[in-house]
Order: sequence, then structure tokens, then C-alpha cells
Amino acid sequence: MTDSSIKKIGVLTSGGDSPGMNACIRAITRTAIYHGIEVVGFRWGYKGVLEMDFRPLGSRSVSNIIQRGGTILGSSRCKDFETKEGIYRAAENLKEMEVDALLVIGGNGSLKGAQELDEAWDGQVIGLPGTIDNDLGGTDWTIGFFTAVDTALDSIDKIRDTAEAFQRIFLIEVMGRKAGDIALGVGISGGAEEVLIPEIPLDLEALGQRLIEAKKRGKGSYIVVVAEGVCDGGAHEVAREIKRITSYESHICILGHTQRGGSPVAHDRIFATRTGARAVEAALDGLTGVMIGVQRGELCHTPFGQLEKRWRFFEPKRLLEINTMLTI
Ligand code: F6P
Repeated sequence: MTDSSIKKIGVLTSGGDSPGMNACIRAITRTAIYHGIEVVGFRWGYKGVLEMDFRPLGSRSVSNIIQRGGTILGSSRCKDFETKEGIYRAAENLKEMEVDALLVIGGNGSLKGAQELDEAWDGQVIGLPGTIDNDLGGTDWTIGFFTAVDTALDSIDKIRDTAEAFQRIFLIEVMGRKAGDIALGVGISGGAEEVLIPEIPLDLEALGQRLIEAKKRGKGSYIVVVAEGVCDGGAHEVAREIKRITSYESHICILGHTQRGGSPVAHDRIFATRTGARAVEAALDGLTGVMIGVQRGELCHTPFGQLEKRWRFFEPKRLLEINTMLTI
């Protein structure tokens, strides 16, 4: 046990939930208890701070959750918190509750909110990268990314069976907002013929020509993974353009929120556990205004202001070149 000025930690999950958030809540709670710190869990993200909707978390309250998807605390995208008044009220409430440090598990929107709170409040704010999108700077991976890729991959493997049986073109739309990491991860591991991501300019004429040539070479089925952020209209727009350019019909499958659910894979549980424990230690060390992440295997912390600058673990161009070579 450490002799620390921190007596009470608050934890919340905010924005799109991601598999592994519960493992992270568990690690935070038990690490804090080990150090003699009281823990409260705010319900429904920042909404819980604004409405003082919370519950005490003890060792037993986080039993049997490491394997569960979703978040036991609930989540939301809280509009009221995005105003100056909201931030001010949150700071007042945390002060009244005598919370010394707030640990925020969420994606880029949630961590922007954490940054503003950090500037308005005397307490410490530590972020943890909880999102399936893998779109944050300061970390190679985010909590939930690998589970989302595996979930989507499972569907693609199944679609490939029927695509092959009917010699069809399938467009499979995956999540990721403005990032193509899920699409790339799924496309490469699923052997998709094409992966369309926002990071590479979309050239649908060229895609159409590649499809025509592939048919001439005797390729029957064709899997195109479409990142949702690739263009307005996503897979539907791509299908319309393929039809116009080639006259081929495509089948569309939008995987949607299935990618957010389910039991986290081991990688996400391990990562969530490591970052959760480190976040509490970072608070004990007096840090604030930083997100805990991992870079090249080492845990690290990055100031909230530098999370936009994305250090790309995936090299999209090279990966797509390899994919084209391998799916000929
Ligand atoms: O940020 C996570 C995410 O799942 C994105 O991939 C997706 O665009 C978005 O959230 C969907 O948000 P909502 O669940 O609010 O529709």
C-alpha cells in the first residue's frame, strides 16, 4: 500500500462502448483498492458526473466481468457536458464529492472532454483509450479494436462461403468512423480482394476496371471491405458506382454494431488490464491531463493535446500493396 494524497478515484466509460472496458474497470478498481483508495463508478459516462449518478465500486462489484462485453457502468455521448456550463458543473460536482482523480475510458470525443475538464478542475484527469476504432494518437492499439476485428472477420469468413457458392461480389461495410484500421485489419486477415479506407483516396473507376479484369482472369467471388468513412453513402454508394461502371450487381452486408459487442479477446483484456493498473499508478504519481497507451510494447502516457497526431501502426499503403499482390 502506498501513502498517497489520493483518497478517492472516479471512473467512467464514455462514447461508443468497446469490448474490454469492463476488464479496464476491474483493473482500475482493484489496483486502487490495493493502494487503499476508494472508488466510485459514474453511470452513463459524463452524464453521471453531471447528475451525481454513481455507485461505490468494491472488489466484489467487479467480480466476473473481465470476460463481458459492453460496460457495467453504462455509456453515453453526453451533449450537456460539451458546453462550458457542463464542464463547470462537472468540476463543481467532483469537488463536492471529494474526488481526487477521474479516470475516463473512451475514444477521441470523450478524451477531448477529459482535456477540457482537466483545464477547469483542480483534480487529476487520466484517460484510457477505449474505442473499437483504433483512431487515437499516443497508442498503437485501443481497447476493443482486436475484438471488433475478430468479430467482423468471423462474418467475412461466413460471407465468403456463400459468395463463392454463388460467384458473387460482396461489399462488407465495417465501422471505424474516419479511420480505416478495422477495415484494414479485417481485409488483410480475411483475404479480401479489396479494402477501401478513408486514408487512401477513393478511385471507383479504377475499382470497376479491377473487377472487370478479375472476372476475365476467372475470379468468381469478390470481397470488398468498405470502411464506413470512405465516402458519403458508404457501401451503398460503392455498389451504385460499381453497377454504373461495370453493370455488375453487388450484395451489401453492413456489420454495424455487432462489431461493438461480445466477449473481449485476450489481447484486449490484457491491454485493458495493463492500462487500467497503470492509470491508477499514474494518478498516484501525480500525473494529470494524459492518456495511458502502449507504443512498441511499452506502456506510456501522452498529453491529451497530442492525441490528434496519430502515430500509425498500420502502414495502409504498404498493407494494401501486399493485399493486392496476394489476392490476384
Ligand atoms: O466510435 C465507435 C463507433 O462504433 C464508430 O465506429 C461508429 O461510427 C460510431 O461509434 C457509431 O456510434 P453510435 O453507436 O452512436 O451510432
